[in-house]
Amino acid sequence: VPSEVRRVSPAERDALRRALELADEDPAAAHPNPTVGAAVLDPTGRLVGLGRSAPPGGPHAEIAALGAAGSGAEGGTLAVTLEPCHGTGRTGPCTTAILAAGIRRVVYCAADPAPGFAGGGAALAAAGVDVVGGVERAAARASAGLAGWLSAAEAGRPVVTWKVAASLDGRTAAADGSSRWITGPAARRAAHQLRARHDAVLVGSGTVLADDPELTVRDAGDCDVRQPLRVIADPRGRTPATARALGPGALVAVSTGVRWRGPAEVVEVARQPAALLAVLGRRGVRSVLLEGGPTLAAAFLTAGLVDRAVVHVGPVLLGAGPPALAGLDIGTIAAAQRWQIDGVGRLGPDAYLTARPLREA
Ligand SMILES: NC(=O)c1ccc[n+]([C@@H]2O[C@H](COP(=O)([O-])OP(=O)(O)OC[C@H]3O[C@@H](n4cnc5c(N)ncnc54)[C@H](OP(=O)(O)O)[C@@H]3O)[C@@H](O)[C@H]2O)c1
Repeated sequence: VPSEVRRVSPAERDALRRALELADEDPAAAHPNPTVGAAVLDPTGRLVGLGRSAPPGGPHAEIAALGAAGSGAEGGTLAVTLEPCHGTGRTGPCTTAILAAGIRRVVYCAADPAPGFAGGGAALAAAGVDVVGGVERAAARASAGLAGWLSAAEAGRPVVTWKVAASLDGRTAAADGSSRWITGPAARRAAHQLRARHDAVLVGSGTVLADDPELTVRDAGDCDVRQPLRVIADPRGRTPATARALGPGALVAVSTGVRWRGPAEVVEVARQPAALLAVLGRRGVRSVLLEGGPTLAAAFLTAGLVDRAVVHVGPVLLGAGPPALAGLDIGTIAAAQRWQIDGVGRLGPDAYLTARPLREA
């Protein structure tokens, strides 16, 4: 597909921005599918239709915008934030509807990396439509409706953020296991906001046994509250049936053949982090907040399955107690995992860092 080098008119760029804005007014509208926006310009460049993707099974953004445009779409341009789909899922391919509406030109931001759905741009071009992809790509990547879905689709698994609260000397609890509180209320509120921005929150059985966390979003301020799935990685089924994280919206992942009973859904899955992520991905989870503890976090980091870290540091010293990570099998500095800092800041008396791994090209 010819790309961004091709000329795009100011009206087309505006239409793409309108489509991005419309999608981001309700970024979870189509979850777990991407929330896409589309706009139709008539042959004179006038905006005649706007649309946003509906929840799964409902019309895609292109169909909604073409419907709003009616006969105004004939000979016109479709501007859409994601490459139109070419496969048949629960709805028919958008490429067919675009051709049927008589659209002459399609401009879009991000290519669709999903197997079975990609190739819409090329198919439209082959049918004689003038297609330009990769326009406003950076804005699309930053758009709340697309960012998580795109990253997960490209990685082929949910995106993982590891979050940890540590003392100045890198401890995540005191020697007796007590850990309330290493950081203050502002950091805790930020942690709840972080939960609200993820599809699932994940901890190991050790954290459940030590801290009995609820794992819900309770104190996220003005942020829209969407409760994430609460996942406990518990190969041996050690989670007490009274654990506070259990209840509707909780999932306990035990090893194959392990019997566990309690008020939560149970899945049997191999111990490997990749296997758990595959199970979660099939359930529509696009983003996972890994809240520890040190053993489970080390397993994910060793497997190269962490995309971002959020580290909160409280101005306390503990001297002993569980470290942020229970070892990474790194014997010498040359073998260190190298990361890049993306952000630093303060949360009341505490500090935070966000970072991501430097991956070999
Ligand atoms: N400050 C913080 O941010 C923070 C956050 C969380 C926890 N913590 C602290 O961490 C301590 C608990 O540490 P922890 O290491 O026991 O907790 P953990 O990492 O939550 O749990 C460890 C357990 O996870 C299970 N597990 C599931 N999948 C695994 C895999 N792929 N690889 C390895 N283990 C897997 C294992 O259970 P089996 O042994 O049964 O197989 C393992 O024993 C507590 O003191 C808690 O306060 C602090």
